[in-house]
Amino acid sequence: MHNSILVTGGAGFIGANFVRRWIATEGTSVINLDSLSYSGNLSSLESLCDEARYTFVRGNIKDRNLVTELLHKHQPRAIVHFAAETHVDRAIVNPEEFIQTNIVGTFQLLEAAREYWEQLKGDKRSRFVFLHVSTDEVYGSLGPHEDPFHESTPYAPSSPYSASKAAGDHLAHAYHRTYGLPVLITHCSNNYGPFQFPEKLIPLMILNATRGLSLPVYGDGQQVRDWLYVVDHCDAIRLVLARGRAGESYNIGGRNQKTNLEVVNTICGILDELRPRSGGTSYASLITHITDRPGHDRRYAIDTTKILNEIGWRPTELFETGIRKTVEWYLNNSNWVNEVVSGQYREWVRVQYATAS
Ligand code: DAU
Repeated sequence: MHNSILVTGGAGFIGANFVRRWIATEGTSVINLDSLSYSGNLSSLESLCDEARYTFVRGNIKDRNLVTELLHKHQPRAIVHFAAETHVDRAIVNPEEFIQTNIVGTFQLLEAAREYWEQLKGDKRSRFVFLHVSTDEVYGSLGPHEDPFHESTPYAPSSPYSASKAAGDHLAHAYHRTYGLPVLITHCSNNYGPFQFPEKLIPLMILNATRGLSLPVYGDGQQVRDWLYVVDHCDAIRLVLARGRAGESYNIGGRNQKTNLEVVNTICGILDELRPRSGGTSYASLITHITDRPGHDRRYAIDTTKILNEIGWRPTELFETGIRKTVEWYLNNSNWVNEVVSGQYREWVRVQYATAS
């Protein structure tokens, strides 16, 4: 009570890593509210099932009554809001869910938080924080020589996904400006690491390679992403929660800009070493260039000066070590992989990559 935090989307990739790390490093409790949609998986949190400081609640952030009840019951000192629809390709196929979760859901959560925070008194009120986890994609696409995104880069989202995240960010900012709700916003670059759902580039490539399937690279594969190891991201959020200034945004990046082809080739090289293919050919021979993603952002890169100067955080994982750990994790955790790769997942991959050429 009072020192606990309410995490939304704690069964998703970043949320689950955050909850695990919080329980391992902080002395306080976590209430995890997650709807367990296709990408949320309780097996990512199995190690916490006997942990007294951890409570799981299945439910949707759009259910304001439920959120209000949880806030009054557990009296958390913070909400860390991860729950979101996050996969760009799914947003292109079916944007509706993204509007519902990322905009309507964020709105309902903000309303519940406002009602709860307004009736708090003294210390409890002054310590309360609403941390909204957002993305660098709200800033749009960078040219090859443009400066990295900083916190005052204008919003220019390209996809229904990033537009829905941008709308959620605007609501969060507005709740700070209008009602004084102590809101913090973080913008991360591309995360990777254990427990990532295999629709995203890195786990998809590892999984496809180990199954001898083609490695579908969109367009020329020269798009650039700034890869952030998920544990570094979780540590950044913990520090922003402790030290961030209400109403401020903080960019969180990995300082690891790589083209997609570099990433895929690196994965293939590690697999060649750890699990050589029979016949001796490299996994790289499975790389197939397919039709580009519509509206595909060419480059993201993050300027981390503000979070370094104000919060004292910098990423510690090098891409070379992080990607090796990640490949090893997927090779050693086939049970987790088999559990999340449901019929629904197989259907998504079948339809999404049906016209791969
Ligand atoms: O930058 C942060 C964002 O990173 C998050 O806000 C998003 O939720 C997250 O999904 C991620 O967005 P991306 O679109 O960059 O991630 P994704 O893993 O889908 O793709 C990474 C790059 O790899 C991108 O340029 C598209 C490319 N790609 C992806 C897939 C799934 C391929 O070439 N082939 C594929 O099959």
